[in-house]
Amino acid sequence: MRFDTIIRNGTVATASDTFVCDIGIRDGRIVALASGLEDATDIIDAAGLFVLPGGIDSHVHLAQPSGEGIVMADDFDTGTRSAAIGGNSTVLAFCMQEKGQTLREALKAYHRKAEDRCHVDVAFHLVITDPTPDVLGQELPALVEDGYTSLKVFMTYEGLRLRDDEILATLDAARRTGALVMVHCENEDAIRYLIGRHEEEGKLAPRYHATTRPIPAEREATHRALSLAEIVDVPIVIVHVSNREAMEEIRRARQRGQKIAGETCPQYLMLTADDLDRDALEGAKYVCSPPPRDKASQQACWEGLEQDVFDLFSSDHCPFRYDDAEGKLNEKGKRHFRWIPNGIPGVATRLPILFSEGVMKGRITLNQFVAQTSTNHAKLYGLYPRKGTIAVGADADITLWDPDKRVRITNDLLAHGADYTPYEGLEVRGWPVRLLVRGRTVMASGAMVAEGTTGIYLPRDRSGLVRQQKPDASV
Ligand code: URP
Ligand code: ZN
Ligand code: ZN
Ligand code: ZN
Repeated sequence: MRFDTIIRNGTVATASDTFVCDIGIRDGRIVALASGLEDATDIIDAAGLFVLPGGIDSHVHLAQPSGEGIVMADDFDTGTRSAAIGGNSTVLAFCMQEKGQTLREALKAYHRKAEDRCHVDVAFHLVITDPTPDVLGQELPALVEDGYTSLKVFMTYEGLRLRDDEILATLDAARRTGALVMVHCENEDAIRYLIGRHEEEGKLAPRYHATTRPIPAEREATHRALSLAEIVDVPIVIVHVSNREAMEEIRRARQRGQKIAGETCPQYLMLTADDLDRDALEGAKYVCSPPPRDKASQQACWEGLEQDVFDLFSSDHCPFRYDDAEGKLNEKGKRHFRWIPNGIPGVATRLPILFSEGVMKGRITLNQFVAQTSTNHAKLYGLYPRKGTIAVGADADITLWDPDKRVRITNDLLAHGADYTPYEGLEVRGWPVRLLVRGRTVMASGAMVAEGTTGIYLPRDRSGLVRQQKPDASV
């Protein structure tokens, strides 16, 4: 058989196995796994490298409207470029419904933003902010059939948050249609109350973002989201878990028999609330929700990864420029933390951080690394086995990983639109040196190398976690 490309002599790692073999690629797919493959247009020597399924980052914010006068630092061009630099072949971005907007209208707008601009493959989660009977009863079932099989709801943020009855109605609709719901768990009323108290005391600097969003506000909301899901009997994903108490809620729900997925992010392993307390306004760079906590919470999140309480390690890439009146340092944000846009960049640094701090330091295995950064994302969000593994028939989405390459992270390596990285100066060992997306080399040696854009939109199957209910089944 003649191949388009052969990757030779590499050590292949999947979520379950590590083995040495060659990979034959034709028409964008893996068509052979064997030793001694020959006869290809292009032969890549991967001796000394790990050959991994391309990273899948299932929690990425791109080109989202972020409040008056605030501009997100990445669109689909720069955001997917940065994803490729970091060894990712697929990202799942959010399509935010505005109040009064139909989901179809929202999707049309996001498809327009993404079209012909993506360097890696892309899919969309819906964000439901206006769960009208029409949205839940008519639109959602049709959209799930069309391949939009996941959605996010917020328990916090004025204008985005849903009340508990709205969350229940959304969960129930998800159960009927087989959609998977991601939940942002923080108690908005508690946060509002604490912000009021901070205002009375004149505590308005960036560090107070963290003290107004304490662990119990996340733990309570996590417990409530899990309870609401239990009431309706539907699986959910608890996203961006920052601490032990919220993690233990997930563990307990699973012990009760609930089907729950959990996600944590690099910021909860690497940052603490002290980072928000840096000189002048520099703390604004680290403002995200939930906020980074403390060393003990970092340790808990590591345990969650080691013990597979967390299925997903995602970036929650949500980039804003720091030194910019349309970003972190907008006029209102300089005066009061509540106007600092929430979110930090991280799509390019997710894999190197987990590999270096996790695999190289013996906290997780290489196979867990693959599962938590790629395979589980594909399974959970309906892309498996096309994506997320190295197998005959799968898309040839492959990251060649140099486990010995030492890199000092600096912002200029990352190709994103933000003017900083929270991980500036961090030394990591292990770095993606080449990325193939459906057989095409998109990134090599830290530079984008493909002509034009390679990424396509991916309609998805239902989640592997979802057991589809009959439409007429009720609680
Ligand atoms: O601060 C964060 N995480 N911003 C992104 C939006 C979200 O809640 O995921
Ligand atoms: Zn969130
Ligand atoms: Zn509880
Ligand atoms: Zn997010």
